[in-house]
Amino acid sequence: MERTLYDLAPATRWVGRRMDIHDEVDSTNLIAETLAGLGVPEGTLVVADRQTAGRGRMGRSFFSPGGSSIYMSLVLRPDCRAEDLHMHVFAAAVAVAETAAPLLSDGAVEIKWPNDVLLGGRKTSGINLPARLNGQGVEFAVLGIGVNINTQLADFPPELHEIATSLRIASGREIDRIGFAEALLARLEQEIERMRSEGFKSVLDCWRRYFRMAGARVRIGGPGVSEIVEGVVQGIDEQGALLLSVGSGSRVRIERIIAGDVTLLRSEG
Ligand code: BTN
Repeated sequence: MERTLYDLAPATRWVGRRMDIHDEVDSTNLIAETLAGLGVPEGTLVVADRQTAGRGRMGRSFFSPGGSSIYMSLVLRPDCRAEDLHMHVFAAAVAVAETAAPLLSDGAVEIKWPNDVLLGGRKTSGINLPARLNGQGVEFAVLGIGVNINTQLADFPPELHEIATSLRIASGREIDRIGFAEALLARLEQEIERMRSEGFKSVLDCWRRYFRMAGARVRIGGPGVSEIVEGVVQGIDEQGALLLSVGSGSRVRIERIIAGDVTLLRSEG
C-alpha cells in the first residue's frame, strides 16, 4: 500500500524527533512558530499535505496544493548570532539540491541565490527562515521548506506555468514522495551538523556546485528592497552575500547584496 505522510520515518537523530503531521494547515511555519514559542525542542517538525496560506519570502504566498508535494517546518534553536542565522538556509538549499540531483539528469539542479532550487530554470523548491531574535542572538528559528514533487503542470495556476516546476515534470516520472521527504530530512540533518561542526565554508563549497549565475546580468529588487540594483554576478562571498559588479568603465564597483529577489536579465559575453 502506498505510504502517506503519517508513515514518515526519517533515519535521523534529532531532525523530526518529534513530528506534528497534518492533512491541511494554513502554514506549517505558523504552527511551528507557535510550538517553538511554547518551548518545544530543536528538531520538532511540522509537516502538512496541503497549505491554505503557505508563506513565501518577502511577504509572498507559496502555492501548496495537496497530495503531491511536501511542506515542512523545522524548529531550530541555533547557538549563533542573528546575523549568521541565514547560513541555515544555505544548508537547506544544499540538502534539497543533493536529494533531488540523483533523480534527475546531470547538471539539471541549480540553486538560485539565495535559496530557490530550480530545475530547467523553474522553481521546484522554496525555503524561508522566520525567527524570533533575542538581542544579537536567536531564541528560535523555523526552517520552512516546500518542494514540488509530483505536481503536474495543470495543477499550477496559469501565472506559475512559466516559473514553477516539480521533480515529476522535470524527470518525467512519478517520485516516491515519502521516500524523498525521508531522504531530504536525513540530508538536512547532515548538512546542519556539518555546518555547525566544520563551519559555513563546508556548506558553501557544496552550494557553489549548484550555482550557475556567475556572469549573468541581473536585477535585485523585491518587497522591502529600497533600491533596485542591476549588475553582473561575480559570485558569492564567504558569508553567502551575492557579489555584483555595478556600473561601467572606470566606475565599476562591487556591490555586496545580502537580501533581495534576483531577476535574470541576460548573460554577458
Ligand atoms: C519562498 O520561496 O519564497 C519560500 C517558500 C517557503 C515555503 C515553505 S512550505 C513549508 C513552510 N510553510 C510555509 O508557510 N512556508 C514554508
